[in-house]
Amino acid sequence: MRVVSIVGPSGAGKTTLLRAASGLRPPDRGEVHFDGRPLLDVVPGISVVFQEYNKSLFPWLSVARNVAMGARHLPAERRTGEVEAALRRVGLAGFGARYPWELSGGMQQRAALARALISDPRVLMMDEPFASVDALTRGHLEDVVSDLWERSSFAALLVTHDVAEAIYLADRVLVLSARPSRVLAEVAVQLPRPRSHGRTRLLPEFAELEAQVLERVEEAGRATIGSR
Ligand SMILES: Nc1ncnc2c1ncn2[C@@H]1O[C@H](COP(=O)(O)OP(=O)(O)OP(=O)(O)O)[C@@H](O)[C@H]1O
Ligand SMILES: [Mg+2]
Repeated sequence: MRVVSIVGPSGAGKTTLLRAASGLRPPDRGEVHFDGRPLLDVVPGISVVFQEYNKSLFPWLSVARNVAMGARHLPAERRTGEVEAALRRVGLAGFGARYPWELSGGMQQRAALARALISDPRVLMMDEPFASVDALTRGHLEDVVSDLWERSSFAALLVTHDVAEAIYLADRVLVLSARPSRVLAEVAVQLPRPRSHGRTRLLPEFAELEAQVLERVEEAGRATIGSR
């Protein structure tokens, strides 16, 4: 169960949950544990790709230098090469010298993803990381992330509004109810890995899982509208 997707209605508290889980804010109740110890602050092993990507890059640093912020653990002589490789991986080769505000929203999101990936995290948390990206690029980035998961050992938490994406990437999908949020359903995803769009999304099990999760998401949505 290395990759967990979280889906739920807008305003349910998904971002709040990620902020608490990554040590960015204390939970109102309960405790977050990392490495068997309570997590009281941000730690180097946890990397977060924020939903508000336009606020997460430093506007006064070039894209390459923003990405390099995640590569401080690497020896200086390897940094440039690794930054270039990370930019290439997310389809931003050649944009290293630009500034974040010169890029489109989706490109900024990809730069933030490159910075998170290069930091070699033990846990990667992503809040709607592909929301502003076109469908084609989105599919490509999902495969980039999925590929990395299959080749390395980090765990991940992914918040997404896209049920198919939640299933495609995860080992487990959590459906949250409306605020005050609780876990409405937990769906195990046992689709074979390595996964690919061409193969995995055509499997009959994929369609079954999608129907199952969608039903619970609709339930959560109905509860939201009903409570207004
Ligand atoms: N458990 C909670 N208790 C009290 N307030 C909460 C709780 N969870 C979330 N909130 C509050 O609800 C608001 C919306 O939460 P949040 O931004 O986390 O939602 P979200 O699920 O990420 O929504 P979206 O899908 O639109 O990004 C915030 O103001 C947050 O402080
Ligand atoms: Mg949010």
